[in-house]
Amino acid sequence: MAQMTLRVNGRDSSVNVAPETPLLWVLRDTLQLTGTKFGCGAGLCGACTVHLDGQATRSCATPVSQAAGKNITTIEGLSANGLHPLQQAWIAEQVPQCGYCQSGQIMAAAALLARVSRPSDDEITQAMNGNLCRCGTYDRIRRAIHRAAGGAG
Ligand code: FES
Ligand code: FES
Repeated sequence: MAQMTLRVNGRDSSVNVAPETPLLWVLRDTLQLTGTKFGCGAGLCGACTVHLDGQATRSCATPVSQAAGKNITTIEGLSANGLHPLQQAWIAEQVPQCGYCQSGQIMAAAALLARVSRPSDDEITQAMNGNLCRCGTYDRIRRAIHRAAGGAG
């Protein structure tokens, strides 16, 4: 076990965990931030996507020791009041079906919009490719990203 400080959603938290523990489990089990989901546990589905220093990152495949000293953002910290433009667009386009993949989808989309303010369809495809949705909400996700970017929904 090791004591480390994690900066999550703008707040420092001290945790005592094995350094190789996946960040996902520390977020969910130690810090009770359960908005980030476990899908495959192998870096393949994107359900566990968070931001590390603004980069979309698979928290299931990231040892917590690699996240120490970085700014970690989870879906709970994306906006103060749940009104990030993507969250508003997700509601307007009624994107979720079962919802399980959606926090990861929104975090991947937010990292994209932070880099590219008006992404093309190709840029959206490239950025969102690794985020799987078993309910097949891909078309609505694309429309919501365009809407959040200020384009037509
Ligand atoms: S749970 Fe992390 S990529 Fe699937
Ligand atoms: S909304 Fe069900 S897996 Fe994406």
